[in-house]
Amino acid sequence: MQPIEFKWVAVQTTFSNESEQSDMTTLVLGSTGQLGRELQRLDPDLTAVGRSSGFDLAHPEDCLKAILELRPTAVINAAAYTQVDKAESEESIATLINHLGPEACAKACAELGIPFVHLSTDYVFPGDKVGAYIESDPIGPKNAYGRTKAAGEQAVRAANPNSKIIRTAWVFSSFGNNFVKTMLRLAETRDEIGVVSDQIGCPTWAHDLAKACLVAAAEPRYGGTYHFAGNGQTSWAGFAEAIFACAQPLNLPSARVRPIRTIDYPTPAYRPPNSVLSSDSFSQTFGHKPADWQESLEKCMVEIGAAQRIA
Ligand SMILES: NC(=O)c1ccc[n+]([C@@H]2O[C@H](COP(=O)([O-])OP(=O)(O)OC[C@H]3O[C@@H](n4cnc5c(N)ncnc54)[C@H](OP(=O)(O)O)[C@@H]3O)[C@@H](O)[C@H]2O)c1
Repeated sequence: MQPIEFKWVAVQTTFSNESEQSDMTTLVLGSTGQLGRELQRLDPDLTAVGRSSGFDLAHPEDCLKAILELRPTAVINAAAYTQVDKAESEESIATLINHLGPEACAKACAELGIPFVHLSTDYVFPGDKVGAYIESDPIGPKNAYGRTKAAGEQAVRAANPNSKIIRTAWVFSSFGNNFVKTMLRLAETRDEIGVVSDQIGCPTWAHDLAKACLVAAAEPRYGGTYHFAGNGQTSWAGFAEAIFACAQPLNLPSARVRPIRTIDYPTPAYRPPNSVLSSDSFSQTFGHKPADWQESLEKCMVEIGAAQRIA
C-alpha cells in the first residue's frame, strides 16, 4: 500500500507521519462540512482534516492507519456522504463513506482507547411513528442514505461499543448547503415557493450540534446512541415561513410560502413523514439541552445577513 501523504489542515500543530509524538488533541473528520466548520469555530485547539488534506473515508484502511499515527485524544466524525437523493444511485460509494470508513475510525479509536463521536441521522427511522422518536425505537430506513447510515451505526457499535453515536436532523448553518440557504436563494427570483408541509422534524443549528459533540467527546463515559436535535418541531413549510420572517428585517430575500404535499414534490429518495427526535436522553446523560430551533435560526440568520452569504 502507498504511504499516506499527510498534509493536514492542522489548526494548532503541524504533524507529519514520520513523527512519533503529536501534541494533537481532538481530531475532527470532515473539515469543510457544516458541522466540521462549526466545530472549528468553537474550538480553535482541535485539528480538522478532510478529503482536501488526504483524509478520505472511502479508503477505510488509510483512515484507520492515519488515526493510529496521529494519536488524537478524541475523534469526532463530522464527515459523511450526505446527498440523500444522489445516494439512491450511488449506494456503494455512500456505503464506503457512511459505513466502512466510520467502522475503521471506530476500530482505531478502540485501539487507542479514546472517545469516538459519530453522527447519524433521523432517516434511519421509517417515519411512521406518532410522536418523537426515542433511541430504543426500532430503526427501518426507507432510503439508500438511511440504509448506509444505519449500517454505519451498527458497524461503529460493533467495532467500538464505547462510541457515542449522535443522531441528528434537518441541519442548517451559515456555512455550506442547506435548506435555509436554498430558501433564500430561491426567494431571490421567486415571489412564492411551494414547500412540503406534511413532513415534520426538528431543525438543528450546526453550531448547537457542534457544542453537543464537544460535550460528548470530552466525556469518557456513557458510550451509546443518542438523539440531539433542535428543541421543538415543525414542517418544512413551517421552517421556510420562519426563515422568511427572519429574512425581512435583515434585508435578505423573502418569499410567500405555499404549503404543498410530499406527493406533489417527487424526489428520487423517499422522505419519512415524521423525523422528530427526542433529545431527552442526551440532555439527561450529558447535562446539556438543545436550544429552541427558532432561537437558533434567528442567530444563524443574523450571521447570514451580516455576511450576505447565501450562495
Ligand atoms: N445535513 C443534515 O441535514 C443532516 C441531517 C441528519 C444527519 N446529518 C449527519 O450529520 C453529520 C454532519 O452533517 P453536515 O450537514 O455537517 O454534512 P455536510 O455539510 O454535507 O458535510 C459533509 C462533510 O463530509 C465530507 N466528506 C464527504 N465525503 C467524504 C469522504 N469520502 N471522506 C472524507 N470526508 C468526506 C465533506 O467533505 P468534502 O468537502 O470533501 O465533500 C464534508 O466535509 C453527518 O454525519 C450527516 O449524515 C446531517
